Amino acid sequence: MSSKKELLTIKLKGWDTKFFHRKMGALDFSFNPANPMADSALLRELLKAARAAGYRHIICRVKEGDRGESALLYKCGFKLVDTCVELVKELDSPCDRKGAAQFQIRLCNKKDLPTLKEMASGAFTKSYFYRDRIFKRSEANEMHSTWIENLCKRGAARVFVAQINSQAAGFVSCELKDGAGRIPLIAVGKNYRGRGIARELLAYALEWFCKYTTEVHVRTQAVNDAALSLYRKAGFRRLHKDRTYSTAL
Ligand SMILES: CC(C)(COP(=O)(O)OP(=O)(O)OC[C@H]1O[C@@H](n2cnc3c(N)ncnc32)[C@H](O)[C@@H]1OP(=O)(O)O)[C@@H](O)C(=O)NCCC(=O)NCCS
Repeated sequence: MSSKKELLTIKLKGWDTKFFHRKMGALDFSFNPANPMADSALLRELLKAARAAGYRHIICRVKEGDRGESALLYKCGFKLVDTCVELVKELDSPCDRKGAAQFQIRLCNKKDLPTLKEMASGAFTKSYFYRDRIFKRSEANEMHSTWIENLCKRGAARVFVAQINSQAAGFVSCELKDGAGRIPLIAVGKNYRGRGIARELLAYALEWFCKYTTEVHVRTQAVNDAALSLYRKAGFRRLHKDRTYSTAL
């Protein structure tokens, strides 16, 4: 659905709507800094129409170089729920892992699923699903469990698992989209952190990506020091930062 002048659009977030049992959308807009009042009126009108159409939750992502979008969103009832950093690594060729592997790393299989789902549940507490009051903590946990399950089952993605004493101790997921690599989720079990498992999983993933692409993207919260440090040490550089705002209708 769009505003009259098509400056504002709300796109249905189909997966989220189905999962959270409430109609959810993402707002996209081309902001006109010369006439913020007009945009504010249009946005209010669009949100009213969205509510009438059954939408209950709208998010909007604003990239770095904010020209007034954040102020407009605040004015129309949106709240800041997330600040993320996108990083990229150009892959050199050849990109063999340096040093001997300490942990056994392999593709995930069906038997890993309960452990990976448990690991994912509660691992990503810095994400906006835990900061936006509309979601219950149990829903956010369940969403991340389902996400890793879907990644494991989907042919387009690869999930590699680090194994210790025949138990999955951590995982990294790898996807290829539009010619580039992406790591949607990486996590290590709470009892296994700080031993270099994520470093090794990431190196393994990069070696896998090397066969198919020349660049890999990752996205994480600006407050996730552990993840940012892990990525920077592996040679990722910051591409941009963005903020996510949301409102319940
Ligand atoms: C981020 C995470 C995967 C790191 O796993 P880990 O196995 O403990 O990390 P490693 O032991 O391999 O550490 C590798 C590097 O990561 C960084 N790092 C790891 N834990 C850190 C912490 N608590 N604080 C700061 N940096 C940290 C360091 O740069 C470290 O290198 P160093 O050992 O030379 O200092 C783990 O903390 C985790 O699962 N967090 C929850 C899920 C998450 O936030 N995932 C990332 C977003 S998708």
